Amino acid sequence: MKDCKSHTVCCWIGLFPIILTADPDIASSVLRSKELLNKAKTMYYPLDLTFKNGLAAIPATQWVHNRKMIDPSFTNKVLVSFFPIFNKAKDDLIERYSVLVDNKEHNILKSLQTLSLGITVGKKVLTGLIQAKLKRDINTSNNNSNTETSDLNNIASNSTVPSIRKEPKIFIDQAIKLYQNQQYTWDHIISESNTIVTTSFETSANAVYSTLVMLAMHPEEQQRLFEEILDVFPEKDFYVDFDQLNQLPYLDLVINETLRLAPSVPVIGRHVMKDTQIGEHNFPKDIQIIISIFHLHRRTDIWGPNADKFDPERFSVENFGEKQKNAFIPFSKGVRNCIGKP
Ligand code: HEM
Repeated sequence: MKDCKSHTVCCWIGLFPIILTADPDIASSVLRSKELLNKAKTMYYPLDLTFKNGLAAIPATQWVHNRKMIDPSFTNKVLVSFFPIFNKAKDDLIERYSVLVDNKEHNILKSLQTLSLGITVGKKVLTGLIQAKLKRDINTSNNNSNTETSDLNNIASNSTVPSIRKEPKIFIDQAIKLYQNQQYTWDHIISESNTIVTTSFETSANAVYSTLVMLAMHPEEQQRLFEEILDVFPEKDFYVDFDQLNQLPYLDLVINETLRLAPSVPVIGRHVMKDTQIGEHNFPKDIQIIISIFHLHRRTDIWGPNADKFDPERFSVENFGEKQKNAFIPFSKGVRNCIGKP
């Protein structure tokens, strides 16, 4: 793009013609188009191969149905039901990292990924969890739940948080229901479960990791955030409720600015299945459109001459205008956006 002095270029990757773009209008039109819901075949080939039938790479014809089935597992209510788990993870992390306060360098990426994976699947491997839950559901009179039940369900059923008692449709339950109703095959729920775990744990862990790196590199912003958190949670032992997150506006700015500079998914792509006209753009059949979120997030004409600089204030109400809104897509956009989008 730099060599061509353009934010949209046409190139070849081997035998495959590609449109590579960091243009917010083209990105929006492509991501919002109902004609362009297929993922770019070359780019997503490994994902498709690994998680056949999983949401992330599945052809649009099947995707519409599957996304509709899985969507109820990603409501706000379901998210809130995970708060006991998030809080436990937070406590573990504080305990684990408190011994690292020695002004030396520590590599924390692996521990964050392990933690994030733990939140996603509980202690056991997902296939085991599903089999265990199925067994338990079939034999409800068998009360031996301590060995087989997932961490998530243990915490959910024991918790005093009111919304949990209303049995939110967490993903694993939804997947099992679809299997029992014969809407999903066994292979299907395994692929879908693996997809959810893979798409969620590393993206989230990397986002937390990048945020901590940014804060380590920017002590003033770190101090401001620390004070904001202390105001809301003055005690050493604290429990974070969903509503309390609204009292941490600077945290939002910091996370957004991190996802701008270091998006967990830096490129996404769509496949043009038939000649498609969108606005003034004509996309010929079999072209793949690759959107570089990374470049879009760093355009100097949109984010200013210091676009590479970490400055959470860019996301304040005063500074974050339509131009920036259009060019900030860490969770993609349109109907095939990230299902785990906050
Ligand atoms: C900071 C965290 C995350 C970021 C930055 C992120 C980003 C993205 C992006 C950009 C896409 C679009 C990919 C594409 O068009 O090819 C996507 C898709 C997806 N994400 Fe996330 N994600 C995050 C967390 C999560 C979480 C927590 C979950 C699940 C619990 C999740 C599940 C998915 C799934 C299933 C898809 C495929 C959706 C579809 O094709 O219908 N993600 N994510």
